[in-house]
Amino acid sequence: MRIVVLVSGTGSNLQAVLDAVRDGRLDVEIAAVGSDRPGTQGVRRAADAGYPTFVVPFRDYPVRADWNRDLTEKVASYDPDLVLSSGFMRIVDESFIARFDGRYLNTHPALLPSFPGAHGVRDALAYGVKVTGCTVHWADAGVDTGPILAQAAVEVLDGDTEETLHERIKVQERRLLIETLDRISRGGIPKL
Ligand code: GRF
Repeated sequence: MRIVVLVSGTGSNLQAVLDAVRDGRLDVEIAAVGSDRPGTQGVRRAADAGYPTFVVPFRDYPVRADWNRDLTEKVASYDPDLVLSSGFMRIVDESFIARFDGRYLNTHPALLPSFPGAHGVRDALAYGVKVTGCTVHWADAGVDTGPILAQAAVEVLDGDTEETLHERIKVQERRLLIETLDRISRGGIPKL
């Protein structure tokens, strides 16, 4: 299974995938890693591991549809079986999802459908929930919507900050992501 991974930030979840592939715990082929912004640590991690990388800079496009088209074409040029959004902080449109046959996988640091959006950890903390977690799902063109494939719960502890809570969530998120990719690669999960 060929995958293209999209990142916007530090790429620690991407690193977990790279490590799992390197160690033979996950049998997928990483075709490329791309970003919507230059200079991300995620892209650097991929380059350091020897994978092709690309950037389609969102801020260089006055018209969102043009960015979406160029991103779609760039990702398609690697001929992926699945596209993984791993901390990719942009919404893509229907044509992107359709081009990859619904095989657009997203991870989110909250128990969807609660707390979608860019600040899922902060919002859960502000609401005062005692349990939050993470979700791996097939993404559609909405904000963190689409069929849920796997979830894990994480307890909110007294004194948690957004950072401490997010770090504990990410431990579960990485495990869930690798398990889910493994199941998909073995044909265990139907597409969107
Ligand atoms: C993850 O929690 C992801 O779900 C969220 O942003 C975080 C990305 O972290 N959207 P990293 O870039 O993999 O370190």
